[in-house]
Amino acid sequence: MTPTEYEYLRKFLKDNSGLDLSADKQYLIESRLLPLARKAGLSGIAELVQKLQGGSRQLMTDVVEAMTTNETFFFRDKVPFDHFRDHIMPEIIKARAAKRSVRIWCAAGSTGQEPYSLAMSLKEMGAALTGWRVEIIATDLSQEVLEKARAGIYSQFEVQRGLPIQMLVKYFKQTGETWQINPELRAMIQHRQLNLLHDFAQLGTFDVIFCRNVLIYFDQDTKINIFNRLARQIEPDGFLVLGAAETVVGLTDTFRPIPERRGLYKPNDPRAAVAKPVLAGAAPRMAVVAGR
Ligand SMILES: C[S@@+](CC[C@H](N)C(=O)[O-])C[C@H]1O[C@@H](n2cnc3c(N)ncnc32)[C@H](O)[C@@H]1O
Repeated sequence: MTPTEYEYLRKFLKDNSGLDLSADKQYLIESRLLPLARKAGLSGIAELVQKLQGGSRQLMTDVVEAMTTNETFFFRDKVPFDHFRDHIMPEIIKARAAKRSVRIWCAAGSTGQEPYSLAMSLKEMGAALTGWRVEIIATDLSQEVLEKARAGIYSQFEVQRGLPIQMLVKYFKQTGETWQINPELRAMIQHRQLNLLHDFAQLGTFDVIFCRNVLIYFDQDTKINIFNRLARQIEPDGFLVLGAAETVVGLTDTFRPIPERRGLYKPNDPRAAVAKPVLAGAAPRMAVVAGR
């Protein structure tokens, strides 16, 4: 791959998926895109770049999908799901007692293990949610992972990663070598294609947003832009949950961490944030707060 081809692909990926590759990731591009080029009957990366430049829509989608990292598993990192059960949901249940409705968005839900972990956690809450309207929206950039998420079918290996055995027995049905999550849980989730770089205001507002292990792939300005737009989609008393390697600290004051609960963030009152004096020498973005 020539430096020019690499630069073209880097920019293409940044513009289309947010993926921010450093200058030394040629091997990653080659390992992911060479098999794709061969499958498409192309001689190599050079021809693939030519086709992209020619505007091949299918190839654009395929390249973006091939470069996404879809790693996920049930109850990944455990702690956020403990917080969801022990802190987030008890607060929401109290606060929404009159309305009896809760909306949860699992942004970048990949092949479904994360939204299904949330659905199982909600089911385990039993009577506390009887009569409630519970909505879970799971989105992802990749159509391929969404198809798998919709089907809710997992291999033996996948159900052995993070899923407690009693939940496997209770919520899945075995067919041959695979396990399918039960129809009631599948029906709790709406799976939709969505690129976090694009406008997501149409999704409405949420009580809880899980946005984990996707922002790590983006540069600072993209993260800030997404945090500021997430802040407009979250209820003032809602919760944002980020991955273990992600934080808002130093990027935006639209959210604040809950110190004793790792990975959990509350939206700041935008009026309070706007009224805050800007300190001399502070990075300008720290004072910018998106309107709600
Ligand atoms: C590493 S997985 C994380 C899955 C899950 N949230 C978890 O923590 O286990 C990252 C997911 O983000 C998705 N993704 C990457 N770029 C995206 C974008 N611009 N908009 C929406 N989803 C994106 C990928 O397709 C992938 O499924």
